[in-house]
Amino acid sequence: MSKSRLVVATRLPAAVIERIHRDFDAFVPPNDLDGPQALQAVMDTKAQALLVSGKTRLDGDLIARLPAHLKIVATCSVGFDHIEVAAARTRGLIVTNTPDVLNDCTADMAMLLILAACRRAAEYEQVMRRGWGTAFGMGEFLGQSVSGKRLGIIGMGRIGQAVARRARGFGMTVLYNNRRRLAPDLEQGAIYCETLDALLPRCDILSLHAPATADTENLINARTLALLPKGAVFVNTARGQLVDEDALIAALSSGQLFAAGLDVFRGEPNVDPRFRSLPNVFLCPHMGSATVETRNAMGLRCLDNIAAVCAGLAPIDPL
Ligand code: DGY
Repeated sequence: MSKSRLVVATRLPAAVIERIHRDFDAFVPPNDLDGPQALQAVMDTKAQALLVSGKTRLDGDLIARLPAHLKIVATCSVGFDHIEVAAARTRGLIVTNTPDVLNDCTADMAMLLILAACRRAAEYEQVMRRGWGTAFGMGEFLGQSVSGKRLGIIGMGRIGQAVARRARGFGMTVLYNNRRRLAPDLEQGAIYCETLDALLPRCDILSLHAPATADTENLINARTLALLPKGAVFVNTARGQLVDEDALIAALSSGQLFAAGLDVFRGEPNVDPRFRSLPNVFLCPHMGSATVETRNAMGLRCLDNIAAVCAGLAPIDPL
């Protein structure tokens, strides 16, 4: 039986590439492809499947131009804000993502950012790299404890719940805002706040875990940041689009926020340069799922979806 034809528009770990070459007739360019380049490659190779990541934007116009032989677009990400899924549905194109396999890893990153922001990790690291030299007094250069603090989670899906489990281990109280209240077995004692306005004044630390949609655009803005208690800590491992970055920078500069930990930004990979000069921000280049184990699992999950669809079966993770 001939192998299905696949275009790989994103650079992937070696273990995933190995399976791609074993199971598919694949076009694997050395660089990531943008939307128009992916479209061209699909047409040139007559591919049945296209594998992308968040770096390949597929808008409605581009999706309308994809040839009929393409059956599936599999994105190697849980987020799918870079793909106009409604347009794909209209023309019967299957789109899949990679849920679940990155829950723990992304929750670990949220905890890393919470700890780093509260404990001033970026500043301490700078001191050491500059050569330390002067001992600090007992009252100098202090961070904030996380134990005993109230963590607010916006978006209590699978990743939000994984963050809540970790936070409980650190002795934090968890509050959350979500479209729907969770069942008690999933809530695990977390306190439900029906509105953002009810949640924010009760959070010492706020962590975002909602998708980027029209409803969540600029959810964190000057008004909502002002609802947090003065000196709160803000963490984002979700998407930059949820945040008005001018307002965030203003809150970090004024002391309304004690600190922030950020893994995601608007305009990635070109991040607002003002973040670099703020001492109270711990910055990461969108690495929430970036471990060998998780990236392998994400890549292999994409291939499972592609293999199923190419064999005429239902996809595992349809959007
Ligand atoms: C995701 O899977 O959506 C993460 O943000 C990595 O891109």
